[in-house]
Amino acid sequence: MEQELLQLQAEAVTKLSTLESQKDLEELRVRYLGRKGLFTGLLRQLGKVSAEDRPRLGQLANQIKEELDQKFTARKSELAGSDTGAAIIRDDLSLPGRIAPFGRLHPVTQIMDEVCSIFIDLGFAVAEGPDVELDYYNFEALNIPKHHPARDMHDTFYINDSILLRTHTSPMQIRAMEKERPPLRIIAPGKVYRCDSDITHTPMFHQVEGFLVDRKVSFADLKGILSVFCQKMFDQSDIGLRFRPSFFPFTEPSAEVDIGCVICRGEGCRVCKQTGWLEILGAGMIDPEVLKMVDYDPEEFSGFAFGLGIERIAMLKYGIDDIRLFYENDLRFLKQF
Ligand code: FA5
Repeated sequence: MEQELLQLQAEAVTKLSTLESQKDLEELRVRYLGRKGLFTGLLRQLGKVSAEDRPRLGQLANQIKEELDQKFTARKSELAGSDTGAAIIRDDLSLPGRIAPFGRLHPVTQIMDEVCSIFIDLGFAVAEGPDVELDYYNFEALNIPKHHPARDMHDTFYINDSILLRTHTSPMQIRAMEKERPPLRIIAPGKVYRCDSDITHTPMFHQVEGFLVDRKVSFADLKGILSVFCQKMFDQSDIGLRFRPSFFPFTEPSAEVDIGCVICRGEGCRVCKQTGWLEILGAGMIDPEVLKMVDYDPEEFSGFAFGLGIERIAMLKYGIDDIRLFYENDLRFLKQF
């Protein structure tokens, strides 16, 4: 019995070193160590040996079984490595390589770039300013003193009494005019923040401020620039544009500008609140009080300004009926652009 056990062990070890695949290994394991295998068969005969030899042979059998188990496990991990190699060699090397996933610009960034490049082509320079803004630039210098009811139009995130997250890009009018003398022709793109959320409002969104100051600037210039912008942006020479009288403390006269809803084509839908129009920007002639704040003489200079919502334009361009989709980071949505 002792001889048979040792012979079985030697045989199994030799075969282990010559086999080439995991499949062969598993077959060998079943043949030697399986429930009906050779080793188990020998163990069953242990009952027939003398009571005197039985403990010694039992101990030897256990030891051999343990060693064989370890050798099978070690060989298995050796073959795992070489099997991968074999699989690669078996692959069709003429197949084209796998393309790594590549990133792209967020749809809002794409629209922002497009808007800016249209205005740059129209001769506007780009200026950027801080998201965390002083109350002075966001409100006071724009003719909105403390406790002015117009502050309620902006659902402001305050940091303290004099510092806030800018609620619009209009503070850039003041910052730019403080630095330069007319003629000025500037756009200021950036993020703005309001405590506001529904299908057409998000708490963080993007605006592009545009303003032009020179001698004899009129409302007709504003209409002209905005019409050309909309025609280029929506690639439509007969695009519907509507100027609605409105109020902003920093422009006089003021207007809100709507564009024909491209989702329902003017029929009325939930995005345009059944009106057929979607508001994309606020605009007007810069109020003389604002010009005075930056030491411009309103008798000599006049100017127009506008602030447009980038997400609203992206919604119109792509036919999206819920602004919040832009910020849910769902790849199924984002990969379409
Ligand atoms: C303003 O923010 C003014 N500063 C615009 C302006 C500039 C007027 C210069 C005159 C002269 P208003 O609050 O209407 O105006 O916002 C401008 C545009 O931003 C809106 O037409 C709309 O397109 C977009 N908008 C406003 N609130 C949100 C919001 N919560 N989410 C997404 N877009 C918004």
